[in-house]
Amino acid sequence: ILQKQIRNFSIIAHIDHGKSTLSDRLIQLTGIVSERDMKEQMLDTMDIERERGITIKSQTVSLPYTAEDGTEYLLNLIDTPGHVDFSYEVSRALKSCEGALIIVDATQGVEAQTLANLYLAMELNLTILPVINKIDLPSAEVEWVKNQIEEDLGLDGENALQVSAKTGQGVDQLFPAIVAAIPPPTVDKDNRFKALIFDSNYDSFRGTIVHFRIFDGTIKKGDTILFMQNDSQYKVEEVGLFQIKRIPQKSLYGGQVGYLIAGIKNISDVKIGDTITMADRPCAKPVGGFREPTPVVFSSMYPVASDDYEELTEALERLKLNDASLIYEKDSSAALGFGYRCGFLGLLHLEVVQERLEREYDISLILTSPSVQYEITTTDGQVNIIDNPVNYPDPAEISKIREPFIKATIIVPDRYMGNVMQVCHEFRGVSKTYQYLTSNRMEMKFELPLAEVVYEFYDRLKSVTQGYGSFDYEIAGYQETDLVKLDFLINGERVDALSILIHRDKAEARARTACKKLREEIPRQQFKIPIQGAIGGKIIARETVSAFRKDVTAKCYGGDISRKRKLLEKQKKGKKRMKMVGSVEIPQSAFLSVLKSE
Ligand code: GTP
Repeated sequence: ILQKQIRNFSIIAHIDHGKSTLSDRLIQLTGIVSERDMKEQMLDTMDIERERGITIKSQTVSLPYTAEDGTEYLLNLIDTPGHVDFSYEVSRALKSCEGALIIVDATQGVEAQTLANLYLAMELNLTILPVINKIDLPSAEVEWVKNQIEEDLGLDGENALQVSAKTGQGVDQLFPAIVAAIPPPTVDKDNRFKALIFDSNYDSFRGTIVHFRIFDGTIKKGDTILFMQNDSQYKVEEVGLFQIKRIPQKSLYGGQVGYLIAGIKNISDVKIGDTITMADRPCAKPVGGFREPTPVVFSSMYPVASDDYEELTEALERLKLNDASLIYEKDSSAALGFGYRCGFLGLLHLEVVQERLEREYDISLILTSPSVQYEITTTDGQVNIIDNPVNYPDPAEISKIREPFIKATIIVPDRYMGNVMQVCHEFRGVSKTYQYLTSNRMEMKFELPLAEVVYEFYDRLKSVTQGYGSFDYEIAGYQETDLVKLDFLINGERVDALSILIHRDKAEARARTACKKLREEIPRQQFKIPIQGAIGGKIIARETVSAFRKDVTAKCYGGDISRKRKLLEKQKKGKKRMKMVGSVEIPQSAFLSVLKSE
């Protein structure tokens, strides 16, 4: 296969517009997997991805295609994650391509992430092919979507391909369209090996598998490569192509997309966006645009059973092998013992990590309320970055606090405009601009505190727009704020793991709902348990769990001893999901309940 017979492309779309389904369909048409092996959503291999139907890690596949004139092509489909938390991964994947298919759901039209992804692709000068999907649905409005593609996206709507990824209708037209419209890869003519890492994963037998796109030169087994970011060197053991399975090749050359294995034991050595070159003949300049993944949301994790701490440590180490963007450090809490403070790319990332730990490693966890990073200046002029309420300084010593803001783009039918304004206001947002995209759809821009978005802005937005509102954001710097530390006391004792940093105006309402929730979740015990929310020494909310005597063995007085033992054991098991805080047993669910308002 010559360079001119290669096409590198991605599929970009708003979430749920059918990217994964279409990818599966394309793979199926090339026949590289047998019908029997053709599992639904081939590319989404992780359990959670399948269950939630979202793509978290990108995966790549090389599709062989023979054109009508007999020319053979290799179409490299580079899958990208669809969620805003992973936008850096999207941009690295796109940088490895010359073109992109932009998918628009025929029933939903252009949405916020359609636009955000389009802008990313345009910045990288990709050739963009619009594709209208889900034309099998009775509610499909193809003409309306064509019009949006013209007006909102500035692309050729009239000639947009129309497909149903579900039934397969029209999907075969995509191959000739890709070959005709998307240019073959160009290579720098320096003849020094240069490749961009756009993804990696960990294989317990082979170590880290690096996914890369070659911009210049060739690579083969035995070469010594150099990672430009951290100067580490490795000897290449294998290179190859992805066709769902890894297919080893003798060598790979400029323009190609593939993988390499080089006995890399540590995935943190391999950074998405880094450039690989040859140790003996390095290229002059890296591909460029490298960025460390920056966590924006922080939370502490504690095992419900303290003796699971070792297991949690091991699980995090293993998880980190597959997720270089996860960061963590030791943390401890008076109430919960030893745990880890973790940083995440966003809330979805947090949920995914939590779920994987619980599911794949079978550890039940208590998470503390997610927090952003605040910039706190103390009276002595020191500037501290704080994300953990435990480190919040004495309020008397604080001179200024700033919090991170985002620029949010929201697209909605105009009938929801009022609702959106109201919700943004509720979450301390400031309206920046709004404009009509078409006669009845609006693009609204806001500045919002990241902390509010982390809390539950997105759920509220979805509900007030009945699911029609779409949302995308980027981080936009710090602004001054009025922050307080809200503590919770259970039976008079402050539970450090429940403390949150919150805007003063929101503290009282939050304290009240959280106390109510705790009351519902904490089981009655032999004594009365007051639950209080407090700022400093001032109590701002209060609830009480009344006393109750629960004697499980009373039921089987004089009865058979083995039955008695069974009951006691059952009670003990239930306790594994409980945490003793002072003299009160608090279930795991209580910690989780205070994180949400509903
Ligand atoms: P992310 O991976 O989360 O970004 O979503 P996605 O864009 O990959 O969407 P996915 O392929 O998971 O499709 C979303 C939903 O739409 C699924 O329930 C699909 O079955 C459905 N779907 C996808 N394509 C079609 C289509 O052409 N017709 C119909 N009727 N449904 C479709």
